[in-house]
Amino acid sequence: MRIAKASAAVGAIVEDIDVTRLDDDEFAAIRQAFLDHGALFFREQTLTPEAHIAFAERWGAIDFNRFFKRREGYPEIAEVLKEPDQQLNIGGGWHTDHSYDEAPAMGSILYALEIPPSGGDTLFAGMAAAYDALDDLMKERIKDLKARHGNAHVFGEESAYRKAVGDRYTNPDQAGQTAVHPVVLAHPDTGAKGLYVNPGFTLEIVDMEPEESRALLQQLYDHIQQDRFHHRHVWREGDLAMWDNRATWHYALNDYQGHRRYLNRITIEGVALG
Ligand code: SIN
Repeated sequence: MRIAKASAAVGAIVEDIDVTRLDDDEFAAIRQAFLDHGALFFREQTLTPEAHIAFAERWGAIDFNRFFKRREGYPEIAEVLKEPDQQLNIGGGWHTDHSYDEAPAMGSILYALEIPPSGGDTLFAGMAAAYDALDDLMKERIKDLKARHGNAHVFGEESAYRKAVGDRYTNPDQAGQTAVHPVVLAHPDTGAKGLYVNPGFTLEIVDMEPEESRALLQQLYDHIQQDRFHHRHVWREGDLAMWDNRATWHYALNDYQGHRRYLNRITIEGVALG
């Protein structure tokens, strides 16, 4: 097995390994790499849905996503799908999965089944690197702040985006809950500090005037959106990507109109953040 950094700020590429046949030492090395790099990209995997589920269960209990359409016969698996005649993709903006939950999913494991001939890459951003690069004044300003996250604007009944995505999203009646998390998160496993706000689901900084909250969030987003904190994953069929939702953002690019893109995602339960 070879593990090599994907970029300075986030991710590692793992080669020469079959994730369905990991012994305990190999799994421990992969787990350490996941904590060190925030995202892992495995090439050339052949996974049945059962094998995908079995790999996911080595990391923890599965967090059943309530809003994505599930793969028939496999409620553990969320479908990330765009058909040739659909305009909008899923995950087409910077976000981190499930930050609207009290205990956000620890990680997401995405397997590529059909990839367009070109385009459809996914960008990742490293939250610890972005935090480390903030100046001391900003670190001091945000150190004790909390932010509220929510999902009604994405998955709820009234969401124009949900309506446009159509039957690829489900259960709009279950949207609406919010959760409050620290803006600077000490990672639950490593203790490393990282930013934990995202344009997809963060609604506001708690106890701050709306205008100031919007301006501060935008300042943090502008900072994180610098290329130096990113890795761009160019998918091949058979790739398996796994990312830590407490340490990264991701963004699925929607630049392949007229082509099908189909991936399967499993999310793993996390812990309450504080
Ligand atoms: C997602 O946001 O989980 C989907 C990412 C992708 O399709 O690349």
